[in-house]
Amino acid sequence: MPAKAASRPPVEEEKKAVALEDLPGVGPTTAEKLREAGYTDLMELAVASPGDVAEAAEIGTQIAQHIIGEARRQADVGSFEIGTTLLERRKTLGRISTNSKALDELLGGGIETQAITEFAGEFGSGKTQIGHQAAVDVQLPAAQGGLEGEVVYIDTESTFRPERIVDMAKAAGIEPELALSRIHIARAFNSNHQMLLVSKAQELARTKPIRLLVVDSLTAHFRAEYAGRAELAPRQQLLNKHLHELMRFAGTYNAAVVVSNQVSARPDILFGDPTRPIGGNIVAHAATYRVYLRKSKPPKRIARLIDSPNLPEGEAVFSVTSEGIRD
Ligand code: GTP
Ligand code: MG
Repeated sequence: MPAKAASRPPVEEEKKAVALEDLPGVGPTTAEKLREAGYTDLMELAVASPGDVAEAAEIGTQIAQHIIGEARRQADVGSFEIGTTLLERRKTLGRISTNSKALDELLGGGIETQAITEFAGEFGSGKTQIGHQAAVDVQLPAAQGGLEGEVVYIDTESTFRPERIVDMAKAAGIEPELALSRIHIARAFNSNHQMLLVSKAQELARTKPIRLLVVDSLTAHFRAEYAGRAELAPRQQLLNKHLHELMRFAGTYNAAVVVSNQVSARPDILFGDPTRPIGGNIVAHAATYRVYLRKSKPPKRIARLIDSPNLPEGEAVFSVTSEGIRD
């Protein structure tokens, strides 16, 4: 199974790419505005609402409706699959070790490909450390818990540390320079940029064996930019779109997607329950696995898996050491 998981089956799509400009009613200006708003391909348009598209492209709702209709005709929107196809696809699932046996077991054998795994927790709970560790471990051969893959690391908080990768790589027996050369890091300056970087990751994944996409943090920009109650709906909508693009990446490239989500322990200005991860239901719904991390006696951390579709709920204790994540 692990040996098989190391190959990269073209899971879906990679069909003819139709440019937005090819749609009747979409000129270069409209196409550009749409792309700026994050509608980079037909599928995104096909599932968009006329109101959003009208606003993004500064066109009438009726024209927007027409454009969406055309996109739906041309994009391959949601055909049905039979169960055996799905089962076949699940057989190609790969897993990335976290380097903690307990945490791997909690996740059903490691961080799964074709899925989004969310690590939620307060500051210092180990979210970023897990991202770094996975970025090293995915490079290992299957027998050692990896997928011989490369990594796209979307860093929104400037907390990616190459020195940390060097430590972890040495401990894992990978030449540090080599390990670093397989991690493609991009700093996301705002939420729009963050979403755009997923498209860039897609381009990169066509030529490099990207098997892991880390978004650390998934929600920080969205939280900062859409702070008021009135902005809750647009924020959730964008997050939803972002998560769908991430899921599509995971499916297309048989890659694992790891996202972090900070939970504020301070019941201050944030509305809603401040001890819950932001993005609430939207993220809970889209993430395949949701893991809550909490600090325990240093260097210990406790991970709790919740709402998993196929794994029992449970807890695992792991540590953050100088060499990385350990039991
Ligand atoms: P936020 O991003 O602030 O929400 O936190 P986070 O959940 O991403 O926390 P992160 O993964 O950055 O964990 C930080 C903790 O990891 C520190 O408090 C240390 O306990 C530990 N840590 C980080 N780097 C090292 C290191 O080089 N050596 C050791 N021993 N521990 C480290
Ligand atoms: Mg962090």
